[in-house]
Formats: sequence, structure tokens, C-alpha cells
Amino acid sequence: MTPSDVKATLSFSDGSPSMELPIYKGTVGPDVIDIRKLYGQTGKFTYDPGFLSTASCNSTITYIDGDKGELLYRGYPIEQLATNCDFLETCYLLLNGELPNQSQKDEFVGRVTNHTMVNEQMQFFLRGFRRDAHPMAVLTGLVGALSAFYHDSTDINNPEHRKIAAIRLIAKMPTLVAMAYKYSIGQPFVYPKNDLSYSGNFLRMMFATPCEEYKVNPVLERALDRIFILHADHEQNASTSTVRLCGSSGTNPFAAIAAGVACLWGPAHGGANEACLNMLEEIQAMGGMSKVGEFMEKVKDKNSGVRLMGFGHRVYKNYDPRAKLMQETCNEVLAELGLENDPLFALAKKLEQIALEDDYFVQRKLYPNVDFYSGIVQRAIGIPVPLFTAIFALARTVGWIAQLDEMIGDPEYKIGRPRQLFVGAAKRDVAPIASR
Ligand code: ACO
Repeated sequence: MTPSDVKATLSFSDGSPSMELPIYKGTVGPDVIDIRKLYGQTGKFTYDPGFLSTASCNSTITYIDGDKGELLYRGYPIEQLATNCDFLETCYLLLNGELPNQSQKDEFVGRVTNHTMVNEQMQFFLRGFRRDAHPMAVLTGLVGALSAFYHDSTDINNPEHRKIAAIRLIAKMPTLVAMAYKYSIGQPFVYPKNDLSYSGNFLRMMFATPCEEYKVNPVLERALDRIFILHADHEQNASTSTVRLCGSSGTNPFAAIAAGVACLWGPAHGGANEACLNMLEEIQAMGGMSKVGEFMEKVKDKNSGVRLMGFGHRVYKNYDPRAKLMQETCNEVLAELGLENDPLFALAKKLEQIALEDDYFVQRKLYPNVDFYSGIVQRAIGIPVPLFTAIFALARTVGWIAQLDEMIGDPEYKIGRPRQLFVGAAKRDVAPIASR
């Protein structure tokens, strides 16, 4: 961190001594005021629920400029990565800081490929779930269960062990997600096939059956790969912060990633793509295009509790760059499958057009986020709606593990332990039960 020449001074109206606080500059983005000594020197905490103004760490991995609508992985714009690289190159970049050359890429792909199978015991664990269990409940359990297979061999303080855990997680997530799906529909599990690409292999594990040859459609393979790239990391979002906080206790990395999966499930985070598609289907069932105006009135009515899912973002106050790329992929996939007239896509475009022109959305800087179109793409590919967030988890695993690795390797890393403003009862005595 580079110290700034500027210092912040904190003064108090009750005459308590003021305090000078150092400021650090990042490569780009807002400076931060270092408040680590604040409590020691003033006996006061800061108050920032939801982390609206608080940087929880320093990081070199992902940078977002929410006003410009810019997303960079290790300095590279997401548009260039999505156009020129595949998902495993992106994983290499996120984990190692640089894009691989051809031999580095071959070696990395080979390593990931070597780890795509999961222990045969995992299927017995999976069989304990009800067939109609939500895939995110299943995935939280399966990823947590991986920690049991690699506990003694994983020393979180050993960088080499962390690297192997990263490779295992990236390699096994598609296998686990596909197994969860096959289990839910009562079909046999399809083992990975290592001469296919990462996305092609996933499509095959999802949609092949032992009775027929499965041919990977290159347009769908590329679309899925792009979904993975766009979701690979997003700096200190809720699930990544969960992984960091969980991992900060020194826990098993597979267990920390399971915590990230659990956090991602929520509709305000990764669950939004599922919620967005359900919303589109509901509007369609209500009467489709003719009901769009009525629905938008509900969205704008604060008492209705209805939000336009797939719209708005804590950081982006401009068009989410991933949403633009996803819309492009959506067009390609629908054309490939002859679904150009898909009514949900038409509905989504109409909602977007209305929202972008409506004062309510303009004033609040609410734009489509990545989830607005990703659900339509996934549905067209044949992925069932409840599995959408599991696909997101699969893709985000690399970001989680890269961030966890960065945290453990940071000499300034400490167990995460937020403070609180206590507003409950002060100390009091327990009365005997008869007199309560
Ligand atoms: N529809 C209608 N109104 C909205 C929406 C929306 N989707 N999003 C925000 N608003 C309004 C809020 O009501 C609020 O209005 P007010 O100032 O009059 O009270 C204002 O915009 C600010 O919203 P907040 O909820 O305070 O913003 P916050 O940064 O806390 O929330 C969030 C961001 C959770 C993403 C929110 O925009 C939302 O709920 N969107 C829908 C869910 C969604 O798409 N989530 C995906 C996020 S991206 C991802 O995880 C990949």
C-alpha cells in the first residue's frame, strides 16, 4: 500500500484530542483512511453496517469502477478476456496474476483435467438428499463434504497445498454440479471425459446419458465458457467476503468455499438469476407484454415489496459490463437454437427499455446486472432454473479460492472480527422464575 502525503484529521466536538489518520493510495480507485489505531487511541469504533464505506482488505485481483461500468481482472478488461481467452486461462490469471503462455496453459489445463473425478464415496453422500432438494442446499453440503476427503493433506498455511486445493476445487465443481442435477432427475451420473474442454465436459456431464452419443454444440460450449468467465470474480462481494472471513480462522479451504456457496444462494446475490427468470415467467403467465406496465408500477411502489430482479447493483451505478456481454451471448445462443422469438427474451428487452427511460431507475442509477440475461441463456441451453445459482457458484469458485489464497499469503492478515455498537440491555440481575 502506498502512503499518501495527505492525512485525515479526526476531531471531536467534546474537546477530546483529535487524531491524525494515515491515508493509502491504491493503483486506481478511492484512497482509504487507515483506522486500525482508532480504537486504541480514542476508545471508539467506526460504524458501517453493510460495509458501505469500509475496505476490508487490500487486494491485487479484481478492480471495479462502478461509475464507469468497468471490470478488470488483474488489470485486464472483462470485455477483452471474454473475447480473447477461455475460462481456464482466466482461472490461471486470477490465481497467478498473469495470463499463461501456451506451455503454462497446457500444464494448467492438464492439472485441472487430472482432478475432475470426485471420490466415489461422494455419490453415497449425495444419495442422502431428497431428490427435490434445492441444488444450492445440495452443493453447500457436497463442497463442505470435500473438506472431509482432503483435511489431513491440506495445510492452509502451505502455499503449495493451497494451490492443489484450488486446482481440485476448480476441477471438481462441474462434476459436483452435474451430479446434483443428474440425481435430481434420476439419471445415472456421467463421469468426466478429459479430452473435452472444461465447458464441453460440463455440458456432457449434464446432458449425456449412457444410451446415446453426446456431441457438444460449440456455440453452447462457448456461451457457457463466457458465463463462467463473467462470473469468475467480483472483488469483495458478499460471498467472497464470507469466504475470506470464514477462512481467516484458518479453517479447511473446502469448508471456507462451502460458506461462500451458502452466501451466494441468497436472492440479493447469486440467487438473482433464478429470481429474475422466475419473475419473467410470472409476468408471462400474467399476460406477458400487456402486463409489463402494470408490473413496473408495482416495482416502483415501495409498499409492494417487488423489485425488478436483475436490476441494480451495490457497486455499478452504470451498465454492468457483464450484462452487455451476456446480452450478446444471449442473441448468439437463441439464434443457434432457433429461439430468436423467445417470449421471455422479448419481455426482458422490453423491461430493460422501460427501466432505462424511467425516472425511478434513472435517478437511482439502476441498470441491468449480469443476472438479467444470464438466466435466459442458461434456460435456452437446457439448464433448469433452480440450478442457475449452482452454475454461478461453479464459476465463482476460482475467485473465492484466489481471494482466500491472497488473504492467507498477506502478512497483514488477521482473523476477521468486526466490532459492534451495543444497544441492548445493560447489565442486570436474573430474577427467580416465579417472580418474572
Ligand atoms: N428494483 C426496484 N428498486 C430498486 C432495485 C430494483 N431491482 N434495486 C434497488 N432499488 C431501489 C431501492 O428501493 C432504493 O430506493 P430508495 O433509495 O428510494 O429507498 C434504491 O434503489 C437503492 O437500493 P438499495 O437496496 O439501497 O441498494 P443496495 O446497494 O443495498 O442493493 C441490490 C443492491 C441488492 C443488488 C439491489 O439493487 C437489488 O435488490 N437488486 C435486485 C436483485 C439483484 O438483481 N441482485 C443481483 C446483484 S448482482 C450479483 O450478485 C451478481
